[in-house]
Amino acid sequence: MAWKSIGIFDSGVGGLTVLREIMHSLPQEDTLYFGDTARVPYGTKSPETVTRYACEIATFLMKRDIKLLVVACNTASAVALPTLKRLLTIPVVGVIEPGARRAALITRSGRIGVIGTAGTIRSSAYTRAIKRLKPEAEVLTRACPLFVPLAEEGWTDNQVARLTAHIYLQELKESDVDTLVLGCTHYPLLKPLIADVMGPDVILVDSAEETARTVAAILADKGLLRPPAERGNHNFFVTDIPAGFVRIGNRFLGGKLGDVFQVSLEEEVGMV
Ligand code: DGL
Repeated sequence: MAWKSIGIFDSGVGGLTVLREIMHSLPQEDTLYFGDTARVPYGTKSPETVTRYACEIATFLMKRDIKLLVVACNTASAVALPTLKRLLTIPVVGVIEPGARRAALITRSGRIGVIGTAGTIRSSAYTRAIKRLKPEAEVLTRACPLFVPLAEEGWTDNQVARLTAHIYLQELKESDVDTLVLGCTHYPLLKPLIADVMGPDVILVDSAEETARTVAAILADKGLLRPPAERGNHNFFVTDIPAGFVRIGNRFLGGKLGDVFQVSLEEEVGMV
């Protein structure tokens, strides 16, 4: 029996933090990862533009006959998920719902902080998702756009990163949240620093782990899991030259990046 792959996409390297968790919990699965490196960042762009990009990438991956699509980008999940779910016939998993579920479950005080890109925070997608699960929760949000280039630069614990984190997180810290959602693919790389700044009483929620659990549950439910004895292959597609993706991606994925192919969405799906 030919098993289909799991499709995963992000604006660039950030979604590799989600792929890492999927590879960890489902090592038998083949994956196709798409990083839109020619058009990153998504976090500063309008919902219309991000939705168009997401639909083009979904079309590309659907042509490769994937069995499930993971939108491993918080910004794309925040603005494009309803459109993708409406258009596609396969299960589509975003990163917002799993992260919101985890936060709603573990908060004791009901005061939850959410950090993400400007696009994610502006969409209020996390606030809506958390309040759907826990209407009495108080959700405090803060856009932290500079965390993305800091993570890509590998500046995860120097003076610049520390000062930036203090400025961004001060208000959330003072408002006594007990749970903080890392609502951006890049932020898990800054986890030790963010944990240090927020202090030991604040639990950090990383959507990646919860998303991997959701993917496993859906595939199991639909009888689409590959037998555990299999070993998955991992292919990577990017829209800019692969060099930067390979360099940074190896850090995001712990040095396990396979073949990376540059593709043209214009040629492949006739859009853009
Ligand atoms: N992947 C994006 C996210 O999780 C961060 C990078 C970007 O702005 O494109 O929101």
